[in-house]
Amino acid sequence: MSTTTKTLADDVLFQNYGKRNISIVRGDGAFLYDDEGKEYLDFTAGIAVCNLGHAHPGVAAVISEQARTLIHTSNLFLVQGQVDLARKLTQLVSKSVPYRTMFVNSGTEANEGALKLARRYQYLQGHGDKTKILSLPHGFHGRTFGSLSVTPKAAYHEGFTPLVPGFETPAALDDVIDHVDDTVAACIVEVIQGEAGVRPLAADFVRALAAKLKEKGALLIVDEVQTGVGRTGTFFGFEAYGIEPDIVTLAKGLGNGVPTGAILAKSSVAEAFTPGAHGTTFGGNPLAMAVANYVVDCVSQPDFLKHVQTVGQALQSVLTAHFDHVDGRGLMWGFDVPDANVWAAKAADAGLLVTKCSNQRIRILPPLIIDEHHVERFADILTSVGTV
Ligand SMILES: Cc1ncc(COP(=O)(O)O)c(C=O)c1O
Repeated sequence: MSTTTKTLADDVLFQNYGKRNISIVRGDGAFLYDDEGKEYLDFTAGIAVCNLGHAHPGVAAVISEQARTLIHTSNLFLVQGQVDLARKLTQLVSKSVPYRTMFVNSGTEANEGALKLARRYQYLQGHGDKTKILSLPHGFHGRTFGSLSVTPKAAYHEGFTPLVPGFETPAALDDVIDHVDDTVAACIVEVIQGEAGVRPLAADFVRALAAKLKEKGALLIVDEVQTGVGRTGTFFGFEAYGIEPDIVTLAKGLGNGVPTGAILAKSSVAEAFTPGAHGTTFGGNPLAMAVANYVVDCVSQPDFLKHVQTVGQALQSVLTAHFDHVDGRGLMWGFDVPDANVWAAKAADAGLLVTKCSNQRIRILPPLIIDEHHVERFADILTSVGTV
């Protein structure tokens, strides 16, 4: 990156992200190229977004065709792509229970809508006293006020308090089930906590929590923003847990980089958003829907999901041979290193891009189209970078 660009970036952009020393100008499959032509194996996929990889010819064709036809109309009009995609997603979420879908633009917006929907559902059921929203320690759900209020990381709260009243995160995971009482509207969970360093929740815990919420008439919201759209080797991460969420949120991988998200809810819950109760200008626009329909058609194929599981196992073997505390599923993995900043910088020098979750934790989220050759290349780079 030229010094002028760096200096200008310091002057004209908000400085809310860490220093960025790499400027990516092009992508191809699982590879990215910077402005000096250096090639990187991209194990970030735009933070679990570009599941079909970069510059995917099918995605590019759909975008250009749709851009030449119609990009945006607003929700004043029916959008055929919303109907098509909602049919697919509601079938994928449950074969037996009817769900409905509302389209939004990002993960935080999907969660914001889900939290509002839960309160409104309870209110319309005549349970105006059920307003409390529970969330889990170490969870991450976004940066708008509602989703930030269910994201307990103290550093993200500094200077933004007071947050939304009536939101509560018990201090320990073991305390969460005891907090589910008659005042709880809903509890939001990630079945694999991504930003926390890729920490899968125990299936027993998730099932017990789901049962207690049901007993108390509270809703289970599963945030699939990071785990959804094939990332864990099933279309939704919750499929491995044998639960039936009341609300599911999606974003990231849904548009392969074109911003889009979705709130899926059991029809009985979705009905609480009566006309005018909630809305968005851009959500579900024809461009986003064209791409998302294409992505879902590709990713929901059983062979595609099987591929994610197989390559994921190969990646797991490589990781466990090198690192401690390897956790994850499909193509979402976290592992410990002594200094994550140092390790990520060394990896980038060696041509591998990863994300850092904490000072000692690295997370990898490769595009779901990687194959054994990419895993071999990853293993070779690991050998040159070392484990420290
Ligand atoms: C589980 C989860 N929920 C919500 C979000 C927020 O999504 P967005 O950045 O699109 O607002 C993220 C982003 O990392 C996430 O991982």
